[in-house]
Amino acid sequence: MIQKGLEGVKICESSICYLDGINGRLYYRGIPVEELAEKSTFEETAYFLWYGKLPTKSELEEFKRKMADYRELPAEALGILYHLPKNLHYIDVLKIFLSIHGSMDGNDEDLREKAIRVASVFPTILAYYYRYSKGKELIRPRKDLSHVENFYYMMFGERNEKIRLLESAFILLMEQDINASTFAALVIASTLSDLYSCIVGALGALKGPLHGGASEKVPPMLEEIGSEDRVEEFVQKCLKEKRKIMGFGHRVYKTYDPRAVFLKRVLQEHFPDSKLFRIASKLEEYIVSNKIKNIYPNVDLYSSVLFEELGFPRNMFTALFATARVVGWTAHVIEYVSDNKLIRPTSEYVGPMDVEYIPIERRDENG
Ligand SMILES: CC(C)(COP(=O)(O)OP(=O)(O)OC[C@H]1O[C@@H](n2cnc3c(N)ncnc32)[C@H](O)[C@@H]1OP(=O)(O)O)[C@@H](O)C(=O)NCCC(=O)NCCS
Repeated sequence: MIQKGLEGVKICESSICYLDGINGRLYYRGIPVEELAEKSTFEETAYFLWYGKLPTKSELEEFKRKMADYRELPAEALGILYHLPKNLHYIDVLKIFLSIHGSMDGNDEDLREKAIRVASVFPTILAYYYRYSKGKELIRPRKDLSHVENFYYMMFGERNEKIRLLESAFILLMEQDINASTFAALVIASTLSDLYSCIVGALGALKGPLHGGASEKVPPMLEEIGSEDRVEEFVQKCLKEKRKIMGFGHRVYKTYDPRAVFLKRVLQEHFPDSKLFRIASKLEEYIVSNKIKNIYPNVDLYSSVLFEELGFPRNMFTALFATARVVGWTAHVIEYVSDNKLIRPTSEYVGPMDVEYIPIERRDENG
């Protein structure tokens, strides 16, 4: 039997994430994601996903110190920065630096330590490249700031009182069961390749517009719509042209994505006058109330508006997603390889058989 797109196929047991797509519920190790987004921090949720338990106060302090210690890039890797073209996509920048970092990271087999190191360095790579490509002086990581605060500070050289909103978004984006990028990571892990290769593969999968790349397509789409009164016309045009509406639809959620619900509430409270937000809300209202293709907004619709309002460049949105999701990818890799089985599906061959091999000089140029 062929299961196109592996829809509904379970490839392993896992105790990391439970996603109930019918009722629109998402849990990390049994805790509703909204509760973590409201009450927890990036570091605490990452610890929870990696270690399988909430940290005590002292465990969390030590863990935060460790993440802060891992923020700086090795000098040799940093040297590469100044040789890069200035118009790269941030996902590609991550792939370049992680490939170098990975080769320099030794062969010790403690995957969790490696995961902590790699997640800690993501913001540094993005902020360094951002400032280098804009001709601005680099800002070194600060150990006295939290993971997310430090990221914002390294990007923009200042603190932001709305930083908690970014932290909540990162918590919501941190984990999502065996989605396409996590699966890509697991396929690579299952060959017993190294953790960095798993992440580089996952980054490539995340970049596509049907997955995390949708977040970068949402703001231009909302601008194309232009105003709330043009939503209906836009949707009808998309349906006619069989064009996908970015930030809507999901393989598993067949109702509201709880992360989209959470982020919409955040935007309503903090950026009610945002033009993009108002168009996005109207789009949601029109699509859901008219049962268009039975799709609902997904996390990218509202996370992209939040990233935009917080001042991040659009071609960094997928990389922001990755900055959070690297925790989920690595948590799954660690869990999967503890009971490893090479992932190797097969296909139903439908091509011809016993085809004659015609020597090149006898082949007809015209067909
Ligand atoms: C995420 C996504 C790939 C899931 O797709 P899937 O489970 O493979 O479902 P399909 O793409 O087969 O969609 C099923 C039907 O709904 C339609 N549909 C799904 N998402 C749609 C969207 N965003 N806009 C318009 N139509 C959509 C499809 O065209 C298809 O219609 P059809 O049966 O008449 O051909 C899909 O919803 C999509 O492309 N969304 C837009 C990109 C996006 O926001 N991605 C981020 C996901 S978190």
